[in-house]
Amino acid sequence: MPAIVLLGAQWGDEGKGKATDLLGSAVDYVVKFNGGNNAGHTIVIGAETYALHLLPSGILTPGVVPVIGNGVVVDLAVLFEEIDALEARGVDTSRLVVSANAHLIAPYNRTLDKVTERFLGSRRIGTTGRGIGPTYADKMSRVGIRVQDLFDEKILRQKVEGALEQKNQLLVKVFNRRAVTVDDVADELLGFVDRLRPMVADTATLLGKALDDGRTVLLEGGQATLLDVDHGTYPFVTSSNPTAGGACTGSGIPPTRIDRVIAVIKAYTTRVGEGPFPTELLDDDGARLRSAGAEFGTTTGRPRRCGWFDAVLGRYAARINGVTDFVLTKLDVLTGREKIPVCVAYEVDGVWHDEMPMTQTEFHHAVPVYEDLDGWNEDISGARSLADLPSGARAYVTAVEELCGAPVSAVGVGPGREQTVAIRDLV
Ligand code: GDP
Ligand code: IMO
Ligand code: MG
Repeated sequence: MPAIVLLGAQWGDEGKGKATDLLGSAVDYVVKFNGGNNAGHTIVIGAETYALHLLPSGILTPGVVPVIGNGVVVDLAVLFEEIDALEARGVDTSRLVVSANAHLIAPYNRTLDKVTERFLGSRRIGTTGRGIGPTYADKMSRVGIRVQDLFDEKILRQKVEGALEQKNQLLVKVFNRRAVTVDDVADELLGFVDRLRPMVADTATLLGKALDDGRTVLLEGGQATLLDVDHGTYPFVTSSNPTAGGACTGSGIPPTRIDRVIAVIKAYTTRVGEGPFPTELLDDDGARLRSAGAEFGTTTGRPRRCGWFDAVLGRYAARINGVTDFVLTKLDVLTGREKIPVCVAYEVDGVWHDEMPMTQTEFHHAVPVYEDLDGWNEDISGARSLADLPSGARAYVTAVEELCGAPVSAVGVGPGREQTVAIRDLV
């Protein structure tokens, strides 16, 4: 049976949480494969609104096994806060499985994330300050602390000691902070071990066997294509691979078992944090998108930067991820405009670009080439099939398909679970 990847096509906050929740009851496992509590997913089920950061969105679906894969970086305090908050609201989290190979966000990495940003000043990335970048850096530098290290206190202390040799030099000599002791770090991490132990598993083997047994596995990406450390707008990216390839490395599921890649794409574009954004609107149109779309960060509360739909990015996301289906979200937010500009290409220093330019410098110089599409005035929040949409909205959906090169299989017309126009089955 199939493994399905679901990921973000733009700069995040496309509505991946809602889309995952929507598929929830049709899948057996939902695996988070990258990122950590930098993610923020708002999911509305009836009168209840949930904000998830670290837990896979599948946690809200009864019967689904939520999995934190090896590619995730885990802040244990956040993990248990989130579990406790959900349990207090009656959500059963007892099926959660955590990879023994996932890396832990150590307290010094939270500190380093924040002080590094402060030191960068105007060159800052605008990170979420959760310690994500420094923790992935430690993983690559082979000085990271993994979930399984908590099960061998001697090894844990050795590893923390090794990491602190460098970290304390940095904290004290470069950033003028207090040194951290091995005890501080080991005690904080070991404080969670008894609660964590029953959840920990070899998740790659577990998922491989689940696929052998005919189960359906959904691999849920945090962040998005343009925030990918390899394929995004480097250096203004996160430190993981939210693209389809990352779904394999971050879960242990091989590419040959994945037969569908669903990209969630917003009907306009948003970005949180710093970095280039060709279709950004700094005028009233941008402010209107922000207020109509409630574009304020789930994680940090920061106002999201808003702009028109960028089909160059959509096309790029389709190519990089091998997208089989788009879920087009927040179409309702565009209601009430006579014309809706859509970026179909860039002009870079006088040269026309249909594709993402090769260099960062060119992307910083990209000027959007817009085509005006017809708008619509009808309230579409009650639409459930394509036939319920006014012709302008239907044409918008078709334009996204044609410009980006993959079919749109569902359209979001409101935040509620049921506020979806279903075009084609996604599972
Ligand atoms: P994620 O990080 O990709 O899961 O997205 P976020 O949850 O950060 O941001 C998406 C926001 O849009 C959330 O507040 C959702 O409740 C909301 N949302 C999702 N789909 C739709 C939609 O089709 N229409 C509207 N109006 N809101 C939506
Ligand atoms: P979801 O899953 C939007 C952005 C940050 C910053 C950059 C690096 O909700 O779509 P980091 O803390 O990861 O080192 O920050 O990435 N960023 C996101 N933007 N949605 C997210 O997640 C994001 N996660 C990180 O704002 O620009
Ligand atoms: Mg989000």
